[in-house]
Amino acid sequence: MKKILILTGGGDCPGLNAVIRGIAKRARKEKDWEIYGSIEAFNGVLNEPQEIIKLTSKKTAGIHIKGGTILKTTNKANPINFPVTQADGTVKFEDRSDELVKKLKALNFDAVVNIGGDGSQKISKALFDKGIPIIGVPKTIDNDLAATDVTFGFQTAVQIATDSFDRLVTTAESHHRCMIMEVMGRDAGWIALHTAIAGGAEICLIPEIPYDVQKLAKRISLRYRNGKGFCNIVIAEGAKPKDGSIVAQKGEKGSEHVRLGGVAYQLAKQLKDAGCKAEIRETVLGHTQRGGIPVAYDRVLATLYGVKAFELALEQKFGHMVAFRNNEIVSVPLAKATQGNSLVNKNSYMIKAAKGMGISFGD
Ligand code: F6P
Repeated sequence: MKKILILTGGGDCPGLNAVIRGIAKRARKEKDWEIYGSIEAFNGVLNEPQEIIKLTSKKTAGIHIKGGTILKTTNKANPINFPVTQADGTVKFEDRSDELVKKLKALNFDAVVNIGGDGSQKISKALFDKGIPIIGVPKTIDNDLAATDVTFGFQTAVQIATDSFDRLVTTAESHHRCMIMEVMGRDAGWIALHTAIAGGAEICLIPEIPYDVQKLAKRISLRYRNGKGFCNIVIAEGAKPKDGSIVAQKGEKGSEHVRLGGVAYQLAKQLKDAGCKAEIRETVLGHTQRGGIPVAYDRVLATLYGVKAFELALEQKFGHMVAFRNNEIVSVPLAKATQGNSLVNKNSYMIKAAKGMGISFGD
């Protein structure tokens, strides 16, 4: 029998389970493959005792409609930069990739599928270079991977954000308030931009276009006449004012990235300081955007990624990541897949159209 190992790494994302099921169902069709999962990314391999489970059909049946990941995940276990807590409580980072490679080789898997974002695919590339037969599957709600036109999880996040936005519009209107809704998107404003167009925002602020607070205050005042009116703003967590900086939270020990969040509150204060008279309320959507049932689009994309990932294993096309490009499911070498982010182009038609609809980006 041949053996395939699946793992999910980095932040979770609606559709992870659909990928796992896609790989498992396609592999079972071949009759001579056994499917395994490593618990909590590569921790399942590194930990003693190891946590590697057999993915029987009972374990994967019907999981495509479930959010999260049945294999669990972490963004604090990069094997190349592994956080180790010292006796004095400080954290030092160690390269455990050789140990991981040794353990993976001893386990003798014929293929390993690493489902994860940018950081995870860099790990895939490093492990492939050290001889592991690995295949990458991209995920992130932020939709900011350049190698693929769309990532699964994004449509679900946009739907959740739009549903929330719609609710804020009616309460803004009732109270003549200015509502600021903060969505995820550390480097790329895709969720904010799609939500702004779908929900009909007056203002959309994204990391790619630093905003001018005075211009925003002016735009808001246009929405208020004789004390009446209302305004809805969507802002990405990574947005920043011109000559200003992003709102970073105190870092968590061992985390791969700085935690963002709270930019909605900063914006409210900046608007007040700029003389904005409107009554302002802030809503931070946070992780609601990453949880729950994936929308149909994400289930389909994730399933196709899973099936393709297994087919790459059959072809022994390792060192590749599956991707969706020009309406086709394809594969790209990991070396290329890990180069560059997909950011919103401020000269794109989407921005032009949004501006044409009267949406201000504060520039
Ligand atoms: O990368 C996806 C993302 O959703 C970012 O937009 C966000 O900053 C980050 O994950 C938050 O991750 P966590 O809270 O799990 O560390």
